[in-house]
Amino acid sequence: MQDFVFHNSTKLIFGKDKEQLVGQESVVFSKKLLLHYGGGSIKNSGLYDRVVTSLREQNIEIFELGGVKPNPRVSLVREGVALCKENDIDFILAVGGGSVIDSAKAIAAGAHYDGDVWDFFEGKNTIEACLPIGVVLTIPAAGSESSSGTVITNEDGWYKRATGHITMRPQFAILNPELTYTLPAYQTACGITDMMAHILERYFTNEKNVEVTDRLCEATLKTIINNAHIVIEDPTNYAARAEIMWSGTIAHNDSLGIGRIGDWASHDIEHELSGIYDIAHGAGLATIFPAWMKYVYKHDLNRFVQFANRVWDIEIDLNNLEKTALAGIKKTEQFFSSIGMPITLKEANIDSDHFEEMAKKGTENRPLGNFVKLNEEDVLNIYYLAK
Ligand code: NZQ
Ligand code: ZN
Repeated sequence: MQDFVFHNSTKLIFGKDKEQLVGQESVVFSKKLLLHYGGGSIKNSGLYDRVVTSLREQNIEIFELGGVKPNPRVSLVREGVALCKENDIDFILAVGGGSVIDSAKAIAAGAHYDGDVWDFFEGKNTIEACLPIGVVLTIPAAGSESSSGTVITNEDGWYKRATGHITMRPQFAILNPELTYTLPAYQTACGITDMMAHILERYFTNEKNVEVTDRLCEATLKTIINNAHIVIEDPTNYAARAEIMWSGTIAHNDSLGIGRIGDWASHDIEHELSGIYDIAHGAGLATIFPAWMKYVYKHDLNRFVQFANRVWDIEIDLNNLEKTALAGIKKTEQFFSSIGMPITLKEANIDSDHFEEMAKKGTENRPLGNFVKLNEEDVLNIYYLAK
């Protein structure tokens, strides 16, 4: 196990009706905020009205910026930055999913900066401070509610890039599983795939003697697998929605990465896909992660055997470890398919036209991954394996 410092300062407020506390939690930071949200789901569900009521009860002045798209765009971030600067707004409330939260985080960084916010995503400058942000989460998926990163798409060239800073971590996140009842089955499944991917990125490490985090990863994966079909078939099942929502946060709050170096190649390879094709991040991961596994499993057969055995309950064939490892990969793929995810790029309506371009763009600054370092040709091979 590597040395580590673990610091996750996001206050998590979990349970039924907890969005009613949003005014009380926000006023601690400011009497004036930017309310940031997506394309309308929060208005349809009535959440918007409840949030505004709670903020008004605390006499908070509200500026609004809606319209965040999935795979959030830098153009709206720039609008948000201008709004914050013009009106001296010093707190941002994100009500929605990973896209809304990521957009809020980027605004929070840009509002503290004289240059263009995209500089941070291109590595031209580093973030020094961000406005504080709060979150009311409506989809368990990206884990952005307590992560220190943001992923934004630049329409100029369709680059989807990540940046982060410790001060980007939300001050508080309200998690009410009931708010996820209105999620379409497809979005629920995308979220489940993404949170599983966040665990798998950390699970496949070269670090030895990391048993406690291995076991925590396996337990969280099993919990997600056990509850996935329940929430898809019975969307208002509170108990199962609660397990999935809490798992989504744990999957990406850094506790499962303790003492180890994660991989993250599948995420980078996927970001090229959702950057160009605007597909849901989780759906992209369902196609890429199994392909990545098939490409790298020989690098540490025993780790893949452990995964197959402990997560998928596959009996270890001591005479044929490779067979056991491959059975675990197959199970992963079948599971994604069983919850309605595409498991090939063809199923996601993506052909090979941009494979070369994506492999080049994805690796232009560095090789991808840590478990196995992947160059442009490797990434291209993975797109073909996912085809
Ligand atoms: O825009 P609205 O109308 O709100 O609809 C959204 C959106 O269409 C809808 N939705 C959300 N909650 C709902 C709902 N519909 C009905 N009922 C509800 N309760 O769901 C759609 C998807 O929302 P989005 O926010 O895009 O989903 P998600 O949370 O999966 O976020 C995806 C983004 O997060 C990034 C991804 O790359 C992607 O851009 N990621 C961010 C990370 C981070 N900051 O730490 C890490 C992740 O790996 C990921 O890369
Ligand atoms: Zn993800």
